[in-house]
Amino acid sequence: MDLRVVLPRGLELSNPVMAASGTFGFGPEYSQFVNIDALGGISVKGVSPEPWTGNPPPRIWETPMGLLNSIGLQNPGVDVFIEKDLPFLRQHQPRVIVNIIGHTVDEYQRVAERLNGLDGVHALEVNISCPNIKEGGMSFGQDPDQAYAVTHAVRQVTNLPIMVKLSPNVTSPVMIAQAIEAAGADMISAINTLVGLAIDIDHRRPALGGITGGLSGPAIKPVALRIIYEVAQAVHIPIIGMGGIASATDVLEFLMAGASAVMVGTITFQFPDRMNQIINELPQVLESHGFTSLQDAVGAALPGKSMWPPQEEMTYES
Ligand SMILES: Cc1cc2nc3c(=O)[nH]c(=O)nc-3n(C[C@H](O)[C@H](O)[C@H](O)COP(=O)(O)O)c2cc1C
Repeated sequence: MDLRVVLPRGLELSNPVMAASGTFGFGPEYSQFVNIDALGGISVKGVSPEPWTGNPPPRIWETPMGLLNSIGLQNPGVDVFIEKDLPFLRQHQPRVIVNIIGHTVDEYQRVAERLNGLDGVHALEVNISCPNIKEGGMSFGQDPDQAYAVTHAVRQVTNLPIMVKLSPNVTSPVMIAQAIEAAGADMISAINTLVGLAIDIDHRRPALGGITGGLSGPAIKPVALRIIYEVAQAVHIPIIGMGGIASATDVLEFLMAGASAVMVGTITFQFPDRMNQIINELPQVLESHGFTSLQDAVGAALPGKSMWPPQEEMTYES
């Protein structure tokens, strides 16, 4: 089955499975364990105009169904990314999506401008939803006016396809998504992590150095699906879905909820080659659920398209 995905502004993926930002570094970290060339895309770790040092340790805390992290977007800055990391990514097949971050609208704009037109950069993911930094980050993704302002500013300085990443930590993700669409984004990516907290009972304090952290992994999958399902009915631009994906069946759920492609994060810490497995298994999973193409599955569970109620009368036996 043809797994190619065609997205706005000429962004074409060989298949719908991409690495989620911050969980795959800049690529080389995983190259021993993962067939990188088989991936549809890689969203790199968040990149800011200047280097950021991140939050105090501990930065990672395991929970029964996922991970709490408080990395705080540590990164070497856009110049080092271009000089040291982009050459590696250029040698590989996946589309390179640069996740961009800033403390101010101007900082987002500066990093987007610096990346515009560079060989090997295929799209930008504007992260307005990181829960782990004090200024900027999630605050932009919690207010429709600010989400509009950042997206609009980035749109002004780049011809690259832009996806803007939604925070689940809001009352109405739909309102934020609509503001992002109105500001000229080509796609929505959803979702970032949910704000959480763990207690270190031996030290009698919150476990993470940053006190709160972002929850990812299987625990957040139902939240991600709910948000994608709602947003898909409210915007006309494609959605890139993520949040707890661990199998090809999970990918099918995200497609049916309205995602056109997906990103996979936390599960790769446990099973580094899981994205390769998912890509190999996806055609069979789609076929066994009656889909003849990937595109058929996109939005198949949305109202008006879903097959519920079933065609045949249901009977109940007592
Ligand atoms: C350790 C870690 C670092 C992350 N860093 C970023 C980041 O730099 N930028 C970003 O947009 N999202 C970041 N995320 C969020 C992921 O890209 C993804 O949205 C989230 O983890 C949900 O997917 P998952 O459950 O498959 O991991 C990070 C997640 C983790 C676990």
